[in-house]
Amino acid sequence: MKIVVLAGGTSTERAISIISGTGICKALRQKGHQAILADVFCGVENVDWENPFPEEYDVDAASAYMSGFDDKIETMKKERRSFFGENILKLCEMADIVFLGLHGSNGEDGRLQATFDLMGIRYTGTGYLSSAMAMDKGITKQMFMMNHVPTPRGVSMVKSQMTTDLKALGMEFPVVVKTCCGGSSVGVYIVNDQKEYEQALKDAYSYEDEVVIEEYIKGREFSVAVVDGKAYPVIEIAPIQGFYDYKNKYQAGSTIETCPAELSPELTEKMQHYAEAGAKALFMEGYCRLDFMMKENGDMYCLEANTLPGMTPTSLIPQEARVLGIDYPTLCEKLIEVSLR
Ligand code: DAL
Ligand code: MG
Repeated sequence: MKIVVLAGGTSTERAISIISGTGICKALRQKGHQAILADVFCGVENVDWENPFPEEYDVDAASAYMSGFDDKIETMKKERRSFFGENILKLCEMADIVFLGLHGSNGEDGRLQATFDLMGIRYTGTGYLSSAMAMDKGITKQMFMMNHVPTPRGVSMVKSQMTTDLKALGMEFPVVVKTCCGGSSVGVYIVNDQKEYEQALKDAYSYEDEVVIEEYIKGREFSVAVVDGKAYPVIEIAPIQGFYDYKNKYQAGSTIETCPAELSPELTEKMQHYAEAGAKALFMEGYCRLDFMMKENGDMYCLEANTLPGMTPTSLIPQEARVLGIDYPTLCEKLIEVSLR
């Protein structure tokens, strides 16, 4: 197949997206596809328009080209009108499918999916509506509650209606303050008192105009992929220090990840059931990954759904797939297969 792997972009998760995209592109090439790696925002260089999907291709060179823009993105954003880099849409129209290696805003939030729908471009992952709902943690919470998927009690609060009076929101410390549409735990704060709360609001609102405040669930953290409506094995994520924040997510050795998680068959089944129900509640198609917390007493809570979750070779979904005997290149191919249905 002729595949454009789109990565990069302008979100706070740009760097991790480049690693996901590079891994996916290499894996698809290993499987014999004519995959090329492209930065959705910065564009591609030296495309031979007579043969844009060459047999011979240097993925590392494309990846290095993309990383070269990292420090310039903010300036470029101010100077540019279009989110799409030059010729990116033309390239995507020429592909059999676009593999979305993007994470975060303008990639994972449905806008790009809606644009592609209108242009007749096929892409991996779920459609625009579920992407938009899952990107918004406040809406996700409401959809979970309506569909009996347990989720921490919480509220969303826009900046213009901000209150520093937690009691007025019906909440009490400790709480988690997070940006409504963030990813990779950027803009997530566990707060124990009024001073921390006010600082967290200030920091979270520096990213976005809407935040979610929810009860802090103390316990173990898990994640479950749902591919084509079916849950994969549960993975446990145990940061050696603190919680599963940006550093613990991406610094090698800072988190112990165990798959399958050491859970009783009953609890495993229950979490997989809630993962499938959570995916269904948000109308997910293709694949996604849902994140959970579980208290010592076995009560579990679904925190959120990720529609374009991390896809580096060592990310959570690839680890879950490996337990099922599905290696990384085969998984990348499978995600295309389920997205084309
Ligand atoms: N947002 C990151 C990439 C994840 O969910 O894996
Ligand atoms: Mg997320």
